[in-house]
Amino acid sequence: MQFVGAHILSVDQFDRSDIERIFAVADDLRPYATRSRVTRVLQGAILSNMFFEPSTRTRISFGSAFNLLGGEVRETTEVKASSLAKGESLHDTARVLSGYSDVIVMRHPEAGSVEEFAQASRVPVLNAGDGPNEHPSQALLDLYTIKQEMAGHGKGIDGLRIALIGDLRYGRAVHSLCKLLGHYDDIAYHLVSPPELEIPPGIADGLAAKRHRVLSFHELEAGIHNVDILYVTRTQEERFPNQDEADRYRGLFRLNQAVYTQHCEPNTVIMHPLPRDSRSAAQELDEDLDENPNLAIFRQTDNGVIVRMALFALVLDVAGGVHDHSQPVTWFTAKRTPGSA
Ligand code: NCD
Repeated sequence: MQFVGAHILSVDQFDRSDIERIFAVADDLRPYATRSRVTRVLQGAILSNMFFEPSTRTRISFGSAFNLLGGEVRETTEVKASSLAKGESLHDTARVLSGYSDVIVMRHPEAGSVEEFAQASRVPVLNAGDGPNEHPSQALLDLYTIKQEMAGHGKGIDGLRIALIGDLRYGRAVHSLCKLLGHYDDIAYHLVSPPELEIPPGIADGLAAKRHRVLSFHELEAGIHNVDILYVTRTQEERFPNQDEADRYRGLFRLNQAVYTQHCEPNTVIMHPLPRDSRSAAQELDEDLDENPNLAIFRQTDNGVIVRMALFALVLDVAGGVHDHSQPVTWFTAKRTPGSA
């Protein structure tokens, strides 16, 4: 694809060479993300970081990524703090904000809303999650992490065996990751969910049509054998018609060290897009796994910054100029080792 000036709305936009281009730029940006060098390549540029749904890591990492390239960030964090609460259309909001910024990142509770917004924007728009639909930057950082973890096991992405566990119906991170992995060869998907929370049939059919192996499971223990990656997800409570219905699924699948030891291959990598639900009734990913070296959740979050930097660099066409505007960091920086949890 042509990255310069593009909206990033869905992983369907990418082919394998696009993904590899993003990852190559991300690798090149590592010294800036790990604070050994600073760059001012986006000095003067403004990001509007528009989050109309709760977010911690996606919002802060997009903002930090832009700052780390030398740009400035403006933010709105709630519908009620924006003019959408006064009845303004997405069209008008997009037209206005695109006059104030060079790029816009947006999260919104409605599927398709970010695309509608992008149509009225004069600057590139990056989808940070549109309801239950897609979360492209999360899928990219997850795949970048998978690539690193598999390299540590002497493997690549082709032939990967992955179990996706939990709310696969409403989980947009799962939707985007499944489709993104579909660009590789011979992926085995173990889709582990309650029957009512299976992945949308269109996504499963698309993977099967590409000759990947797609197996469904309704019990955790049955689905986590013989895989390289466990990708655990939270019940997306906010997407259910009511709280009672969401509560039916809380705590149904719980991965902990005992379950892992009994059912998983040694060194199976454990991932989660986060946040994990640590309330006692949920705990889909138990904190007793925190000492397990195969727990990659904070390697994922660290990679979120670097992958989002790469997206900005490509869309704003500065990937080639980053080092020309750089210098060593002069302040104290805490040690950041790529391999640490
Ligand atoms: C995910 C999301 O918002 O879809 N979170 C994130 O961006 N890391 C997953 C979730 O909220 O469960």
